[in-house]
Amino acid sequence: MIDKVIRFRRVASTQDTAKRFVHKGRELAVTALSQDKGRGRQGRSWFSPHGGLYVSLLLFPKKRLTSIPLLASLSVIRTLEGLGFSKLLIHWPNDVLLKDRKVCGVVCERYQNAMICGIGLNVNIERFGPRNINATSLSVEAGRNFDVEEILNCLLEQFNNLYDELQKRGLKIKEVLNYISGLGEAVEVVTAKGTIKGTVYDIDDDWALLLRDESGIIKKFHDGDVRRLQW
Ligand code: BTN
Repeated sequence: MIDKVIRFRRVASTQDTAKRFVHKGRELAVTALSQDKGRGRQGRSWFSPHGGLYVSLLLFPKKRLTSIPLLASLSVIRTLEGLGFSKLLIHWPNDVLLKDRKVCGVVCERYQNAMICGIGLNVNIERFGPRNINATSLSVEAGRNFDVEEILNCLLEQFNNLYDELQKRGLKIKEVLNYISGLGEAVEVVTAKGTIKGTVYDIDDDWALLLRDESGIIKKFHDGDVRRLQW
């Protein structure tokens, strides 16, 4: 349960700043107004100018670790629905899409006995660089600015509810399948070990992606980038 927020104006990455608090053994959130070296999944950088929401949740989950990234994405979706947004989807493993464009990314890292779950949400960002061509923000979509602090409070409330539920009874992945993009679609999954083409078959209770490859074999992925194939 996150009941403390430690705020910074500018840091390299809230993921690294959060590590400084691990020894306290208390669940908390670290935020910054901007990041100089925001990190994404798979060694990518995360565009982090002033106007975005950058938060790292320092967690000590007792069980069901693999569902934490999904929980974070789901908390973002519920928060954005509360603001009136629709057409929200989760692009496995943990991007949140708004009208098919990426509005939020989640990265989870294990550190000592903790898990640090970083969430970057494009709130009041008007322009993106050439490396973020498929990105959007809440302000671009709604044509107005939002209160980042208010969004953070909603997000933490949503996260705490889901996290509590998860630790007590587990999360039924089937309940969130409605939000998952790409089921049944032809995709390629790019991993460190190679690229595999196939059709998205299902998401299992571990939040792993099940892909039916071109020879009909079901393959399981815990990480990777899913790219829709054009026909
Ligand atoms: C991704 O889509 O690859 C994940 C992006 C995660 C970005 C967030 S912003 C807050 C936290 N601090 C970081 O350096 N990264 C995460």
